[in-house]
Parts: sequence; C-alpha cells; structure tokens
Amino acid sequence: MPAWPDPARAAAVEAEMRSYPPLVFAGEARDLKARLAEVVAGRAFLLQGGDCAESFAEFHPNTIRDTFRVLLQMAVTLTFASHMPVVKVGRMAGQFAKPRSADMEEQGGVALPSYRGDIVNDIGFDPEARVPDPERQKRAYMQAAATLNLLRALATGGYANLHQVHKWNLDFMARSPWAERYAEVATRIGEALAFMEACGISPDTVPQLKGTEFYTSHEALLLGYEEAMTRQDSLTGDWVDTSAHFLWIGDRTRFQGSAHVEFLRGVVNPIGIKCGPTLTADDLLRLIDTLNPANEPGRLTLISRFGADRVEAHLPGLVRAVRREGRHVVWSCDPMHGNTIKSASGLKTRPFDRILAEVRQVFAVHRAEGTHPGGIHIEMTGQNVTECTGGAIAVTDEALADRYHTHCDPRLNASQALELAFLLAEELAEARKRRPAAAA
Ligand code: PEP
Ligand code: CO
Repeated sequence: MPAWPDPARAAAVEAEMRSYPPLVFAGEARDLKARLAEVVAGRAFLLQGGDCAESFAEFHPNTIRDTFRVLLQMAVTLTFASHMPVVKVGRMAGQFAKPRSADMEEQGGVALPSYRGDIVNDIGFDPEARVPDPERQKRAYMQAAATLNLLRALATGGYANLHQVHKWNLDFMARSPWAERYAEVATRIGEALAFMEACGISPDTVPQLKGTEFYTSHEALLLGYEEAMTRQDSLTGDWVDTSAHFLWIGDRTRFQGSAHVEFLRGVVNPIGIKCGPTLTADDLLRLIDTLNPANEPGRLTLISRFGADRVEAHLPGLVRAVRREGRHVVWSCDPMHGNTIKSASGLKTRPFDRILAEVRQVFAVHRAEGTHPGGIHIEMTGQNVTECTGGAIAVTDEALADRYHTHCDPRLNASQALELAFLLAEELAEARKRRPAAAA
C-alpha cells in the first residue's frame, strides 16, 4: 500500500469516489461466477489476459481494440479445438496498481520510491514524479470507465459477431505462420456458420452469434480505491466490488490475515488467488476456507505461477490437497510471473519457450491428477511489442529495446499470444479426446 503524503487528501478523494457510478453490476459478477462454475465442472475454459499494468500513456482506442481482438482470436481457436465455451476476462479497465518487492528503486546511485502503477505515481525517474498522488485514482477510474464502455460496445455492437472471424486477423501478423493457421480455423468456422444458417441458425435467430460476453478483472491491491467502489446490491443486500467483475489477490498479499484477504472475504465477486512457490498446501486450504466457506463453485480461481522448472515440485501437492478436501476451484495457469529474467541488455524479459514449457507442465500435472486444466492467465497486448524473447517471429535479446513499452512486466505480443493459443488448443483437443464420449 502506498504511503500517501497527505492521508487526509487521500481520504477526501476516496469519499468523493464513493458517489461515482459503479463500473459493473452485481448481476454481471454473479453471471461470471456461474460461467466459472462451468469451468470448475470441466465444461468450459477460462481465458484471462491483458496488460501487466495499464497506463495513462497507452490509453488509446486502438490499444483496447487490438487487445480485445487478440483475445477473441485466442478464444475462437480454443473453442474450435476444445468444443468448450471460453470465458473471456480482460486484465483491462482497472489493472493499474502494482505490488513491488522493494519500496525504493535505485538508478545510478540515486534511490527514489518505486513506481507503483499510474494509479499511484508516475513512472518517470525523478523525485517529484514518484510522490504518490491520490488524485490519480480518479483519473484511473475515468480511464477504466471509458475502456469498459468501449469493451462493452466491441463485445455486443457487432465487432465480435462470429461472422467477422476472418477480419480479426491483424495486418502485422501476416508474417507469422500462426496467422495462416488462424485463417484456416476461421475458414472452417465460416463454413460451419454457413451450414448452420442454411438450417435456420443465424445471428438473427441466435443472438449469441452476434456478440460475446466479456468480463474485466484486476488485482485488488489498492484497498482505498476498491473500498470506495464497493456497494451494496439493492436486490440481494450483497456487497459487491463494482470496480471489476473479477478481482484477484497477488502472490505478495495472499497470506492469512492480510488486509487484502480480509477485504475480498467480504465481497461476493468471483475472485482469484495467485499461487506461487512459497504457498504451502495447508496455507492454501486455510485461505480457501476463509474466502469460500460455503464451497461455492465459481467463487475461487487458483492461479498457479511457479516458473517452468518449479511446477513439478509445487503444483501436484496443491492439486491433491484441494481435491482431497473436496474444494471446488478453477485451476488456472499464469505462465508469466515465474519466468521473468533479466536480459543481457538489462531489460526484464520472459523467454517464450519457458512460458510454453510451464503451460505444458501444468497440463501434464492436471492430466496425471485427473483435474481440469481450467484456464490461462497471461500478460499480453494486441500491439507488436518486443518484450518477451522468442516466438515464431523470433524476438531476439538485441531486439528487445526496439518496441519495449510495458509499464511493468514484459507482455506477449499479438503473434506470441496467438501461438500460445495454438499450443493450448492442441492440449485441450487431446484432453477432449480422452473425455468419455458423452462428455466430449
Ligand atoms: C501480476 O499479475 O501482475 C502480478 C504482480 O502477479 P503475482 O502477484 O503473481 O506476482
Ligand atoms: Co505482471
């Protein structure tokens, strides 16, 4: 949590924000929970992705549209392979606050307060920029509102109509072999749609073909902001954090007794817990008891993030403990946060091979344990950035600086994200073939 230099001003900002319109409604959060309950049951897959940190500088309609578009491409690729609905959740419209391991950042002998996300301070390395400013919370709220407005329009206004499946391809991806694979999938979906239309199933008769459901999420880190956005649902009396549909607790704040656990315990939204290498099975079970005492399916998503070489040592124990206790959870895989390294040039990066390796291992563990690999949680963008090394159009170590725009961790670019979707598609298609005929 930032130390606001003037706590009274922070309190005044949060008091003002309590009267701002909610960004999402209780009913939407309940709908997402129901969708996630389908994932728990092994009948759907969760796709969650977006920026590590949204920024004021990158706020642009094309950025929002392109990230949304890549998520759509990934989702159809996954649905086509798995025959399962894909629950789409953006790390968007509110993913501003960043947890930091160190309070101070040092550069060339100068130490300044760490950058904590645009909702708290500015990324520029000068003393004034780094002073936490509570007014930034209002700008973050406005940006989240406008982003969500565009996402809702894109999801329901025609852009996400399945008949547009060919047009979601991005020009700069033409060089990627995966763009070609995607075009093949799109052609086959187009044929299926034409066949169904001849049978009387068209966007006019089945509204689901016309648009899609899209949900938002971010780490519930800045508790003053989250509390200001928390409202009581007039229909049920439930408390809902209306800053996003889905909130998660980061790996640094998920310990028993943490304020973040205590806060999320009190709201009914579906929530996530990041599960890193220091989490023991006993601690996880206690957290589950605290956060989901009624064992409601869809309430809890466990997001494992160990690093490619640590999955085998950590994940099976957690999966077994949760299964033994009969706890209903979505198991999602974040292959990003355990695989961050410093490149030769000094930039933070993530080798694409290690990201894929973590995904493969997580699927292997779930296959061995008989549990559903329920989802993927990634940092990605629709832009052609050079932040993670590798991929079919290989980003080299030397090329990292070319288009390195992230405000925090390195993201997959559009073609790396699509490439990952095809690996997931392969794994999910395999899993489908192993399911009993009735369920497949
Ligand atoms: C994140 O998701 O950006 C993040 C900080 O993750 P974690 O809490 O897993 O380190
Ligand atoms: Co991150």
